[in-house]
Amino acid sequence: MTFHDNPEPRPPGSFPARGRRDMVARDTAVRGRAAHNMTETAEGADAWDPAQYLRFAGHRLRPALDLLNRIDLERPETVTDLGCGAGNVTRWLAQRWPGAAVTGVDGSAAMLAKAAEALPELRWQQADIAAWAPDRPQNLIYSNAALHWLPDHETLFPKLAGDLAPGGVLAVQMPRNFAEPSHTAMADAARNGPWIETLEPMLKPAPVHEPAFYHRLLAPRVSALDLWETTYFQLLDGNNPVAEWTKGTWLRPMLDALGGDRRAGFEAAYRARIAAAYPPGPDGRTLFPFRRLFMVAKR
Ligand SMILES: C[S@@+](CC[C@H](N)C(=O)[O-])C[C@H]1O[C@@H](n2cnc3c(N)ncnc32)[C@H](O)[C@@H]1O
Repeated sequence: MTFHDNPEPRPPGSFPARGRRDMVARDTAVRGRAAHNMTETAEGADAWDPAQYLRFAGHRLRPALDLLNRIDLERPETVTDLGCGAGNVTRWLAQRWPGAAVTGVDGSAAMLAKAAEALPELRWQQADIAAWAPDRPQNLIYSNAALHWLPDHETLFPKLAGDLAPGGVLAVQMPRNFAEPSHTAMADAARNGPWIETLEPMLKPAPVHEPAFYHRLLAPRVSALDLWETTYFQLLDGNNPVAEWTKGTWLRPMLDALGGDRRAGFEAAYRARIAAAYPPGPDGRTLFPFRRLFMVAKR
């Protein structure tokens, strides 16, 4: 196991460009639409709002590419992007490995519709990651900023390692910022208002464990494991931008659980806490440190 900080990002342009003809030839069956073979609805997955999530697309893409740059695979045949969202990163997987059959899997119909519209030549599958099973062993299972939405990592990570072909790679990035004010302010605001009965049951323990937890699960199942964390010191523009950031992700299910005045009241209570915790700097921009956990496991 090695711990790294800030691996050198490779500029996206250095991946080989993909010929459009190749892409279209590969998957005519589901081209241009999401394949709806979901057996269970991913909890909350349809609450995703692609527009809000993509407001910070640049900051969200960087760790995805940092992860991609650490994958040492020449010619994978089968590549799955788990929790692919709107396909922002699936696009880079397909560009890097033009010969691979690339599938994007997500629970949200709204996200997949956006992905299929932008990249009709790739294969899109609506499924709950917890119930997902590949039709054959995968050379690469990639997942950026998605697996922290799933419970029971004790079961999930060994299962995903078992879905790899020999020599295959499991590459995962998850945020690990849950002890910071961006996230603790949600619980604080939830417990201090007339919305407490609705929101308190939704409060969960931090979904991502210490790196050692994943080492214990994965090391016995793979031949090589690379684990590292990076804190990105993100400079955000706009009014109370950290609150806008979480509104595209972790805050969203809580807002959706409330209606009318209670929703507005809870959001205002959260925003006030965030404005105090993350004041703008002298240049008017707001510094938002954000820690992320990465792992690349080779079977
Ligand atoms: C933060 S977005 C990341 C999207 C994409 N990987 C990216 O980096 O742009 C998380 C995605 O995970 C999906 N997701 C969350 N829980 C899921 C589940 N149980 N099954 C399938 N998809 C899920 C959501 O629908 C959402 O599109």
